Amino acid sequence: MEHFLKLGDLSTEEIYGLLDIAADLKYKLKNGVPHRYLEGKSVALVFEKASTRTRTSFEVGAYQLGGYGAFINGKDTQIARGEPVQDTIRVLSRYFDCLMIRTFKQSFVEDLAKYGTIPIINGLTDYCHPTQVIADLLTIRERKGRLEDLKMCYIGDGNNMANSLIVGALKTGMKMTAVCPDDYRPADDVLSFAKGFGDRFELCTEPVYGAEKADVLVTDVWTSMGEEAETEKRKIAFKGYQINDKVIDAANKDVMVQHCLPAHRGEEITAEVFEAHADEIFDEAENRLHAHKAIMTALCGNYVK
Ligand code: CP
Ligand code: NVA
Repeated sequence: MEHFLKLGDLSTEEIYGLLDIAADLKYKLKNGVPHRYLEGKSVALVFEKASTRTRTSFEVGAYQLGGYGAFINGKDTQIARGEPVQDTIRVLSRYFDCLMIRTFKQSFVEDLAKYGTIPIINGLTDYCHPTQVIADLLTIRERKGRLEDLKMCYIGDGNNMANSLIVGALKTGMKMTAVCPDDYRPADDVLSFAKGFGDRFELCTEPVYGAEKADVLVTDVWTSMGEEAETEKRKIAFKGYQINDKVIDAANKDVMVQHCLPAHRGEEITAEVFEAHADEIFDEAENRLHAHKAIMTALCGNYVK
């Protein structure tokens, strides 16, 4: 694995490899076992959008691994004033051992990988959110003991989360149902990829139907970062695309709920369902830390189990 740009680039073995490293690093952290696999290494953490979890877990994760995570507000850099990506990344490649970026266009992240000489990590684009989904898969595997043949149902916007969840779930052997309004479907290339999995994938528009016999229910905000001008329009389009008691009742009895956060209670999830499944959701948030440490370690660390 040279970069971590989208889950579509990773093999099933590489995804499971990251989950195994994350589980090992989590064990080591909780048991006081040294795991300084990034000793002396520096990771640039560039943000062109807001973040609570991704920023802090990469910073703390780099520190726990013996390395350094440098937060860079994209707006304060010359990128914001139009310096070409080719020049920016050729400079940063000479200071840093790895770079994580949260930005708008997927093509920007791909260009960093193309023109730089260090591993690039996608910390969220409009197209996908792959670091989040490694944490989600880790949480599901921890709680259910496996991923194969479990049914995931995603309800909501066919956005960055939906795109990464579909690819991540199918590549790890899960069944996946995406429940999205017709005008807000997942990306075309993701849907083509999913079609190759036959009846392990379904796209529909009815939340209660989609949630039938689900082992895992996932949702995300109706309005993502950068789409704020559409907030009111989206509130109408997504009405009913919510994890609520009816959806929970349609799922398997021991269904777990995942939400990448931040959550909007009363929109994509009710306050009652959120609180009833808070342990699962905050485990998921904690697992960002272990997942990100695994990704940095795999890309530029000196890992030994
Ligand atoms: N889930 C997630 O990426 O959270 P942040 O936006 O706080 O980083
Ligand atoms: N879909 C959301 C995810 C936030 C972590 C967004 O892009 O804003």
